[in-house]
This record gives sequence, structure tokens and C-alpha cells, in this order.
Amino acid sequence: MPAPRTHPQTVDEAAALIGAGGICAFATETVYGLGADATDADAVLNIYRTKGRPRFNPLIVHCANLEMAARLAEFPPLAQRFAEAFWPGALTLVLPLKPDAGIADIVTAGLDTLAIRVPAHEDARALIAAVGRPLAAPSANPSGRLSPTSAEQVRQAFDNQVPVLDGGPCAAGVESTIIAVDGEKATQLRAGAIPLAELEKRAGAKIARATEGDAVAAPGMLKSHYAPQSRLRLNADKPIAAEAYLAFGVAPLHDGPLQNLSPTRDLGEAARNLFAMLHELDASGATAIAVAPIPDHGLGEAINDRLQRAAAPRD
Ligand code: TXA
Ligand code: MG
Repeated sequence: MPAPRTHPQTVDEAAALIGAGGICAFATETVYGLGADATDADAVLNIYRTKGRPRFNPLIVHCANLEMAARLAEFPPLAQRFAEAFWPGALTLVLPLKPDAGIADIVTAGLDTLAIRVPAHEDARALIAAVGRPLAAPSANPSGRLSPTSAEQVRQAFDNQVPVLDGGPCAAGVESTIIAVDGEKATQLRAGAIPLAELEKRAGAKIARATEGDAVAAPGMLKSHYAPQSRLRLNADKPIAAEAYLAFGVAPLHDGPLQNLSPTRDLGEAARNLFAMLHELDASGATAIAVAPIPDHGLGEAINDRLQRAAAPRD
């Protein structure tokens, strides 16, 4: 194996790597992202290569503020309302791409829409400002695997060959909610860190849910995704002997590996712990991971979405 690489210690060091056409992982409030200059096609290509990501699956562009985002995409009044209510934060908007945006074609996989967000994490915002350009950044995991919520998980996932700016554990723990806005119509493409009801309430808008096979559905919403090495068994009230158990609420007695998403049944705490605990149980060597039932409302929708994809049969 090649020697472990050294990692940037400051935002300026990370910005220098990206400014020189490199890639660098950084913290956001949702999960860690693997970033590159979104205007540099070669740098973005390196993200796809490093993740083993299919080229048809476009990336989210991260901006420092609404002004930067408005240079890249059209903001109908409804999109403006969403942005003003939730940015900086865990909301990604899919909007018509401006023809002169200067974003490398490979970022959008040739689509005429662009996924954009303004992240809230201090490192992410400082990094974009220091580079001075929008950053393309998918989650910093090999394609199809669990998303990382700590710098250590990123280092491990890429055998310590990808530079990582350590920004601490991620506050939300699941990816951003993705909403496509077409004129006055809003459609949720991915459940995420901001629950649908909260988006509807604060933006004063009705949001449709994309259904499977929907023309606007996010190209990256593959059935099998976020997959741990171990098999997952969902809605399990208790584990069998050979299994690891991911509990929610009061945990059953169990001799094998056990983690509790939230002893007090707090969905925010559960979202924050989800990927880290799956990573940990996955590393425990159990034949399978049994997972407690999770209520399917609020943040529970995003948690159940990730669990279902993690449990889906793999091709
Ligand atoms: O919280 C997040 O969103 C994290 C952090 C790093 O910002 N990023 C993230 O990126 O989750 P990624 O690449 O793992 O997921 C992006 C999703 C994919 O499902 C992709 O298909 C979808 O966004 N997407 C990107 N551009 C799109 C577009 N123009 N239209 C529809 N879906 C799009
Ligand atoms: Mg991802």
C-alpha cells in the first residue's frame, strides 16, 4: 500500500490544494464532502475516479452565499424563498443551470439543471471563500458505501490516500434534503436532514414527493446505496445471537455488538449517530446487522430511506 499522506491542517492549506486543481475532503453540517473546483473539469473528473462514481450521477455544487449561487442558476421566486429560509443549511435546490455559469459539464452529467447548496459548517464556508470558486462535492465515500460523518471515516474509506481537513463530527449526520424547483412547483428528490414538513411550513409551499421512475428523480437515488459490508435486517425488535444490533429506544439484552441510535428516541440524535454506528457495527465482524424499527415521520423519513437503501439487494 502507498505511504499514508499528510493532511491539511488549516482551511488555507486545504484551499491551496483545491486551488491548484486537487481534491480535498472537508466537513459540512450534514456529512463530509469530497471537494474540487467546480469550474475545473479535470479536478472534478478526479472526484468521480476517486469515488468510483458512475459519470451519469451529477454532483452538488457548494456556494459561499446566495449571490454566488445566483450567478450559476435561475432562482424563481419559490426557490428564492427556500434559499432565504434555509441557507446556509442542509437544503439542496435543483434549479435551471445558467448557460454562462462556467461550471464544468461533468458536474451536471450533461443535465440542464444544477444542484446547489450553501453549507452552514464554518470550514465549508471558509474553504469556498478562500478558493473563491464554487466547489463540487459529493459525500466523501466510495460510491455506494456508507457516508462519512467524521474525518477518520474518510481516511479509512480511502486507505488514507485522500487529503482530509478535519472539521470534527457532523452535526446532522444525514445528507441534505434535495428539492427540485420548476417555476412554482417543488418536488422532493431526496429526504434529508431537513424534514419535509419543516420545509413546507417555513417556505409556505406544498412539496410533492418524487416517486420511483419519476423523470425528475435524482439520478443518484440508486436502490442499493449506503451499503455496509454486512447484510442488514430492518424492523427487527430484537437480534438473533449471531447478529449485531442497532437499537432505538430501550435496547434488548444482547451478548453481541450493540449500538443505540438514541436511548431517548430522539430522531435528531439518531440521524447524527446513524452512519457512525453502522460503520462501527459493520467493523464488528457480525454476520448481519439487525436494526430496530424507526418511526417514519420527520427526520425518521431520511433515516428509513438510508436504511432501506443500505439493506437493498446488491447487483
Ligand atoms: O449533504 C449533502 O448533500 C452532501 C454534502 C457533502 O453536501 N452531499 C451529497 O452529495 O450528498 P452526493 O453526491 O452524495 O448526492 C448528491 C445527490 C445525488 O443523488 C445526485 O444524483 C443528486 O444529488 N443530483 C445532483 N445534481 C442533480 C440534478 N441536477 N438533478 C437531480 N439530482 C441531482
Ligand atoms: Mg452520497
